[in-house]
Amino acid sequence: MQTRPLGTTGPQVSALGLGCMGMSALYGEADRAESVATIHAALEAGVTLLDTGDFYGMGHNEMLIGEALRSAPAARREQALTSVKFGALRGPDGEWTGYDGRPAAVKNFAAYSLQRLGVDHIDVYRIARVDPGVPIEETVGAIAELVEKGYVRHIGLSEVGAETIRRAAATAPIVDLQIEYSLISRGIEREILPTTRELGIAVTAYGVLSRGLISGHFTPDRQLAANDFRAHSPRFQGENLRHNLDLVEALRKVAEQKGVSVAQIAIAWALSQGDDIVPLIGARSRDRLTEALGALDVTLDAADLAAVEDAVPAGAAAGDRYAAAQMAHLDSER
Ligand SMILES: NC(=O)c1ccc[n+]([C@@H]2O[C@H](COP(=O)([O-])OP(=O)(O)OC[C@H]3O[C@@H](n4cnc5c(N)ncnc54)[C@H](OP(=O)(O)O)[C@@H]3O)[C@@H](O)[C@H]2O)c1
Repeated sequence: MQTRPLGTTGPQVSALGLGCMGMSALYGEADRAESVATIHAALEAGVTLLDTGDFYGMGHNEMLIGEALRSAPAARREQALTSVKFGALRGPDGEWTGYDGRPAAVKNFAAYSLQRLGVDHIDVYRIARVDPGVPIEETVGAIAELVEKGYVRHIGLSEVGAETIRRAAATAPIVDLQIEYSLISRGIEREILPTTRELGIAVTAYGVLSRGLISGHFTPDRQLAANDFRAHSPRFQGENLRHNLDLVEALRKVAEQKGVSVAQIAIAWALSQGDDIVPLIGARSRDRLTEALGALDVTLDAADLAAVEDAVPAGAAAGDRYAAAQMAHLDSER
């Protein structure tokens, strides 16, 4: 497995991480046994980074990862690095009620995550969205205390802009920023990526397949459950969806010429943007995992990259990456 450094102060991690969110929430029904088998297969293939959030299925995702780690061979379990987001507040029916980044809440969230995961430390810990009522210094400072006590190894950030990155990095060492980055979400290239690069912070990129939209497997007639994120995502609606899937068809032609799949070329593009980019792949079946890992063998030269960007020019996607109510929580979009 190829590896990449998680910033200048973090560990080496597998060049692709496994994002486990879809195994519990947001993308419709998932199969528990297949999810656990996918985590095992990823560890077996050398994937070290497992990403989750305590609010993905209200603890479900962490318990699932805990189960997979417990049932994995010891050597595989020991190589796993957990990356956990906290801070989102939910209700029993799944409603989203805000964010809490107060120091006492940070410690409380961490205590429960350690139990659900069944581990004695979390490798990278981050607030999912900035709590507008709590300065980032206080939230990051609370994680730094958990680092001192050995409950957390490293501090990360999620969906924050350049100014917040600088304030956080002035408070404690930050290893990575988790943020959406793909062929159709390139906003970070303006200000955020230059800032992380200046400060030696890696980017763990999510949505590299745009939640399946640019995977080559998404069809316009797909029925989405009401609680599927994509049922409300602007990029998956009506005319926007048709436009975006036309981009995918253009990308498919480039992929076919290279003899690879659409998902593989989209992941290979993200990998080619720099050694500081670690794509988190949302595979939740072994088939999808195998396809995603195949991207590690795809080399894109300058002509390939030009063809890819010709097929999907920067800014070509129709629709925002989140609905308006969710955009309001994105410090990265201010
Ligand atoms: N910090 C944040 O704000 C934030 C936000 C969102 C996600 N994340 C993290 O990032 C991870 C990845 O995000 P994501 O799940 O949206 O990413 P993604 O990889 O862009 O999308 C995953 C979706 O793509 C589909 N897909 C099709 N072919 C695939 C293939 N070969 N490999 C993988 N997936 C394929 C899957 O659908 P099927 O399973 O239906 O085939 C799945 O629904 C999440 O699991 C989560 O840990 C973080």
